[in-house]
Amino acid sequence: MGAGKSSAVQGALDSDVLVETQIEMSIASFFAAYGEAKFRRREESVVLRALRSGAPVVALGGGALGSRAVRDALADHTVVWLGVSPETAWERATGSSAAAGGESPAAAGASDAPGGRGASLGTRPLAADRDAFFALHAEREPVYAGVADVFLPEGDRGLFGRALPAMRALASAPDQTKLVWACSAGGEYPVYVGRGIAGSVLPGTDGGRGFLVTDEHVGPLYASRMRGMAHTVTIAAGEGHKTVAVAETVWRSLARHGMGHGDRVVALGGGVVGDLAGFCAATYQRGVPVVQVPTTVVAQVDSAYGGKTGVDLPEAKNYVGAYHQPAAVVTDVDTLSTLPPEELAAGYAEVVKTALIAGGSLWERVAAGAAVDERIVLDCARTKLAVVAADERDGGVRQVLNLGHTVGHAIETATGYTRYRHGEAVALGLLAALRLSDAGDLRDEVAELLRAAGLPATLDADVDPEAVVAATKLDKKRRGDDVPFVVVKAPGDVRHGQPISPSAVLAAVSELLPAR
Ligand SMILES: NC(=O)c1ccc[n+]([C@@H]2O[C@H](COP(=O)([O-])OP(=O)(O)OC[C@H]3O[C@@H](n4cnc5c(N)ncnc54)[C@H](O)[C@@H]3O)[C@@H](O)[C@H]2O)c1
Repeated sequence: MGAGKSSAVQGALDSDVLVETQIEMSIASFFAAYGEAKFRRREESVVLRALRSGAPVVALGGGALGSRAVRDALADHTVVWLGVSPETAWERATGSSAAAGGESPAAAGASDAPGGRGASLGTRPLAADRDAFFALHAEREPVYAGVADVFLPEGDRGLFGRALPAMRALASAPDQTKLVWACSAGGEYPVYVGRGIAGSVLPGTDGGRGFLVTDEHVGPLYASRMRGMAHTVTIAAGEGHKTVAVAETVWRSLARHGMGHGDRVVALGGGVVGDLAGFCAATYQRGVPVVQVPTTVVAQVDSAYGGKTGVDLPEAKNYVGAYHQPAAVVTDVDTLSTLPPEELAAGYAEVVKTALIAGGSLWERVAAGAAVDERIVLDCARTKLAVVAADERDGGVRQVLNLGHTVGHAIETATGYTRYRHGEAVALGLLAALRLSDAGDLRDEVAELLRAAGLPATLDADVDPEAVVAATKLDKKRRGDDVPFVVVKAPGDVRHGQPISPSAVLAAVSELLPAR
């Protein structure tokens, strides 16, 4: 309701209009006369007929997915979920402030209110009470997420058309491939999430010649799937190789093999390959496109999206880099099958972090011990992309993604990048952040989740907590003497920029040492 369906797609068969034609009165009048249950039965038969009609696009009323038969019938269709915040939906549904501002579809006379174009505003029977409307919006979200193949964020009127080639490509992609359209200040791109899709030619992944960058573990497993690459650069695996020196070998290899502006880098691997190859793409000839093909949990739930690229310095992590949004991301969950157990575990820390940020059904599933599957990967990707859409360059809300990373990065730096995997350090950092959040019960719950996944809940005894605290002072988000922390009030309620005293940080890090 209020998502702007009619303005997104001109000429769609609108189920609300069809229902009104059949009942020969407005939906509001029918609700008042016969009640919602009777309306839903009429709506169900109309929608099922519309879905069988062969119409290229059917716009569904907000409640139509309450019907099991409708949800089942949608299996034969590509289902596009137009994202909308509850605030915007409420404004559109009721014709209040933003709608009156002239930007919304409603104000332009193309409302997706019952009756479609030109329908009078305020006729929606379920948009009478603001709290009830917001509750309904939240209640419907998991239902929509369960059937959607395509997730489009709120955007301008042209967004649907720009995403259309990628949406169409789903028809020939492996079954159950999902598309999330990523939007941020630096650009927009398709994110495909599915199984068996690495190497598929999809909109955003094509054009020019591909130059594959991968590492010594991933290349032998998956490089052969990336057909038609002009050249492959293989780097040594691991964080210790995310350096300027290795970036230079990649730049020079690309140059020697004649990579030019019409070509693209394809980053096949975990977060190290993604960050390094993305950085090389951002800087080679002042910027060439990069397609990210993430193959670790860390990369599939987090690092492949959002355009942060870079390398480490011995002094501090991720200290040299650039924002460079990918041309496309192809997330093939099947590649996780070859990931060593310790790497799967390390990635789980980023899953827990993302679930704490998202709250809601993602947190509930993770807290209940859900395995990392395509649904969890998709929801983590959507969570990250929504944050990046609001703030690409870490000016504000994107900093929440740093949850657990201030101490996590400091542990990596203080131990020379070799002792802990990134995810293991983040697991420890999460526990410190939850202590600093004064969220003891949640910390215990998270510690249990991390332990069950095989992650460390304590630092090695010889790690110097003072050195870790000193490394937090190198955090890039530091302003003056303060290192702003991300704290968790509750799952889904995460706040960035909270100044914490060095002595409190020292106490939280010291607590991670094993009891003597
Ligand atoms: N850019 C961002 O927004 C962002 C976000 C989070 C993390 N990161 C970065 O990500 C990096 C960590 O990434 P990571 O945990 O993926 O580590 P990684 O890239 O080092 O991969 C871990 C190990 O798994 C191997 N591997 C990868 N995929 C495999 C597969 N499918 N089968 C078998 N082996 C495989 C790799 O060769 C490596 O040995 C860190 O440098 C971190 O800073 C970046």
